[in-house]
Amino acid sequence: MVGILYHPFSKNQENVSPSPERRWISRSPEETFRLAADLARELPRGAVLALHGELGAGKTAFVQGLARALGIDRPVSSPTFTLINEYPGPIPLYHIDLYRIRDSADALGLGLDEYLHGNGITAIEWAERIADLLPPDALHVRLQPGEEMNERLISVSGGRPS
Ligand SMILES: Nc1ncnc2c1ncn2[C@@H]1O[C@H](COP(=O)(O)OP(=O)(O)O)[C@@H](O)[C@H]1O
Ligand SMILES: [Mg+2]
Repeated sequence: MVGILYHPFSKNQENVSPSPERRWISRSPEETFRLAADLARELPRGAVLALHGELGAGKTAFVQGLARALGIDRPVSSPTFTLINEYPGPIPLYHIDLYRIRDSADALGLGLDEYLHGNGITAIEWAERIADLLPPDALHVRLQPGEEMNERLISVSGGRPS
């Protein structure tokens, strides 16, 4: 099971505004997939997830978990070179990786608007680089290494007040 430190995902947390930060310790890639999949099920269409964390933190792993919950069969790999991967489905998933982008001026021309204000779920790695373009109700997911090799500390904050 995913270790719950604080504020488990709960159906009883509606009407809590602003949304509290929730934190977990993941001890394996599979736990990170499951955590992301649980989160995906509570996301409204049009949700934007800003993923923060160094290389290898598990941002792409997190998106793989989102994809699983959305019923996407195609393997999800990092769009580091393509920058944007689209996964069609009943709720489309847009996976954006801004590692090669410096700032929002640099991101002009990528057509990000369509994804930031679209109808699917948009997950953005290195989202802090376009902080000024992110919608105010973006959900921020922060991943950082824990004490053990496969441990990751994951926190989720922001999002739409329900
Ligand atoms: N608890 C964990 N959660 C996510 N990834 C983990 C975990 N433990 C080990 N890993 C490994 O860390 C790496 C994360 O890579 P990736 O998701 O591509 O990171 P990023 O996209 O942040 O650069 C993968 O090789 C994955 O197997
Ligand atoms: Mg990645």
